[in-house]
Amino acid sequence: MSDQIPHACPIEQPHSRRGFLSTVLMVIGVAAGYGLGLLHFLEYLVPLRRKTPKREMFVGTLAEFQVGASVTLRDPRGEEISLTRVHDDKTEPANGFKALSSTCPHLGCKVHWDAGKGEFLCPCHNGVFDKNGIAISGPPAKEKKNLSTFEVRVNKDTGWVYVMVSAGDDNVA
Ligand code: FES
Repeated sequence: MSDQIPHACPIEQPHSRRGFLSTVLMVIGVAAGYGLGLLHFLEYLVPLRRKTPKREMFVGTLAEFQVGASVTLRDPRGEEISLTRVHDDKTEPANGFKALSSTCPHLGCKVHWDAGKGEFLCPCHNGVFDKNGIAISGPPAKEKKNLSTFEVRVNKDTGWVYVMVSAGDDNVA
């Protein structure tokens, strides 16, 4: 007779399976919680750029703007915009306009349109911008800082001219 101990018969343990599932669910929950927390932390460090809502600001009719004419407007946030009709585009009238910020990107002086030269001039440090707002001389050109642009829309049926401006009180330039 052998005095070996008989092999222990594996006993089904329903509690161990439940325990395993509980552990898996707990790990998933903790991972999701930490993941969400990490996402919020990253968003705090690197804020996502949200699209600024825009709206149309009516500025006049096509007939009111002669080619070469320039007017200064103020958007709802108080930003001055220089709207110039640089040429007469028969197929896409909006393409004949340029709407640029009147604020010099160097130190914030007001630029003005010189129709004779076809340029925007900043009197503070002799900054010069072409008709598209590209800095061509002075400190803004050295710093490669151009005038901000605004979209212009023209309703072809009515001839009404609009400049797209920020709708809210956001702080996007
Ligand atoms: S502020 Fe316009 S060139 Fe300096």
